[in-house]
Amino acid sequence: MDGNGRWAESRGLPRTEGHRAGEDALFDVVDGCLEAGVRWLTVYAFSTENWRRPRDEVKFLINFNEEILLRRRDELNERDVRIRFVGRRDWRVPKRLIRRMNESSELTRDNRKLTFTIAFNYGGRAEIVDAVRAIAASGVKPDKITEKMIKRHLYDPEMPDPDLVVRSSGEYRISNFLLWELAYSELYFTEVLWPEFRRSDLFDAIHEYQVRERRFGGVGQGS
Ligand code: IPE
Ligand code: MG
Repeated sequence: MDGNGRWAESRGLPRTEGHRAGEDALFDVVDGCLEAGVRWLTVYAFSTENWRRPRDEVKFLINFNEEILLRRRDELNERDVRIRFVGRRDWRVPKRLIRRMNESSELTRDNRKLTFTIAFNYGGRAEIVDAVRAIAASGVKPDKITEKMIKRHLYDPEMPDPDLVVRSSGEYRISNFLLWELAYSELYFTEVLWPEFRRSDLFDAIHEYQVRERRFGGVGQGS
């Protein structure tokens, strides 16, 4: 969900207004997923690198994420959406926010239509490090370590590898998002700034995805 700051700055607004405007984009995309039958949606809300932003912006992002959770979790629950979180739960994440996360996951745990995962204090490298630490701590012999074992130690072992990754705002980078999981994902980049992103932009991305040929290192169907 990139481009909030630039959207706000181009309107002479503080960056935080861009984050605020991103809420409509996010919930339109959630609706779009429900409409299109997408079963798993993962959004990058706050990265392990975002702590480097000015204090006030970090504070805003933390409070805003908490506020959105409180304000919208019942509606998500009614719509059969299961809320989950991935990311490091270290000392930098306020205890109160962790409590809200746990409550929201608990409230929606039996929902099945869409799993909506929020990556918060998330970094792809940190996730791999955390998985490797857990494996090492279990005392397993090095030659018994497999890809499957690493997968099982990721933040949410049930989350399937993403089919499609969408990045907004004309940046052509992965920026530490789901590094392990997106090994074979299709990547889609759009110039649209996140506050202006709507389900129609998601559908454009899905349509493009549908005409791509995924070979997973093999050869094409016609070969
Ligand atoms: C994304 O928008 C916000 C977060 C996920 C933290 P940005 O704040 O990165 O917006 P730009 O890149 O400065 O425009
Ligand atoms: Mg950005």
